[in-house]
Amino acid sequence: MSRIDAATLTDLAAEANLAPSVHNTQPARWMLDKDGCILLAADLSRHLSIGDPTGRDMGLSCGAALEGMVMALAARRIGVAIDDLWADDARDWRPGYRLAARLTPVGDAEPSELALWTTGRFTWRAPFLPAAPDEIARLEHWVAETDDATCARSHADLAFIAALNDGASLTVLRARAFRDELVAWMRLSRSHPDYAFDGLNLAALRMGRVEGALAGHLLASPLFDFADRLGLGKALVAEAGKTTTAAACLLFHRPESESPIVSGRAFYRFWLGFTRFGFAGWPMAVLADVPAAADALQQRFPLPPGHRLINVLRVGPAPSVVPKFRLPADDLVLAEEPA
Ligand SMILES: Cc1cc2nc3c(=O)[nH]c(=O)nc-3n(C[C@H](O)[C@H](O)[C@H](O)COP(=O)(O)O)c2cc1C
Repeated sequence: MSRIDAATLTDLAAEANLAPSVHNTQPARWMLDKDGCILLAADLSRHLSIGDPTGRDMGLSCGAALEGMVMALAARRIGVAIDDLWADDARDWRPGYRLAARLTPVGDAEPSELALWTTGRFTWRAPFLPAAPDEIARLEHWVAETDDATCARSHADLAFIAALNDGASLTVLRARAFRDELVAWMRLSRSHPDYAFDGLNLAALRMGRVEGALAGHLLASPLFDFADRLGLGKALVAEAGKTTTAAACLLFHRPESESPIVSGRAFYRFWLGFTRFGFAGWPMAVLADVPAAADALQQRFPLPPGHRLINVLRVGPAPSVVPKFRLPADDLVLAEEPA
């Protein structure tokens, strides 16, 4: 097997980086080592210390990017063996990075059919279009065949999940530090220097210029707490009207003991899986992250024993496509270790 060169690694990294990441932080970085292996590391400067204190979402995001890399390599017929290094918590590997995985080329691989959908997958944060009955039937049939997803579809179930999501969102947004961190990753003006590159911009949030400016001011100021004390908090964060337009909510769950790298790989495959059927997705991570919300969901939709909720996605047809806002490929690659 020929050695992967630096230019190829940059191309591969850009393809891998089409994967979803929490707040579009894109923490996955790639490097070639002396033995011709590819190393994956998380860039700790992109860690959400308030929203993701344990680093789990960063691990899931790196896992999703890893799946993207495996597909990009397979498209070039390169197979790899993967060592998951997340549990080692190797932060001293290089200052500012946590080593996540090593990919050792092992021979030929077959291209993955899911790779066809990596450019067409996106997060849709607005009302969905109605889905056709045959599209819904295909989705339900597919979810029924998977081991790690549960489909909620009735109006009562969607209304329950929508209310739970709004309540859990308000719980996390009441913390000023959480709001400040979120706003720091929002690009609410087109003149923001990182508008086209990372974080959550107006196009991704489906907001107009004025709406974006108002949201930014409100979240960043004590006005939010004031409005909340007047009982307006829920109205400020409410997404229920949009959530209930989804064709379904998919509860994605994985074994409790699984590394976030492995869960993140499965999460990306899952998202690409329903993208194939013409559905866009809109996650509600708070439903997995706020224990009371996760417990309430588990009561109504029991998960298989030993599984934990990873995320809940609203899914449905989107009326338009959201483009990809990603870092330049060169920023995703670290210089090779000196020989
Ligand atoms: C672990 C994880 C959690 C996420 N949680 C949310 C969420 O709670 N709400 C949301 O709107 N998007 C969520 N997302 C989606 C990301 O914000 C999205 O993937 C990113 O902004 C890139 O946009 P794209 O999916 O359109 O490529 C999550 C993504 C990951 C990987």
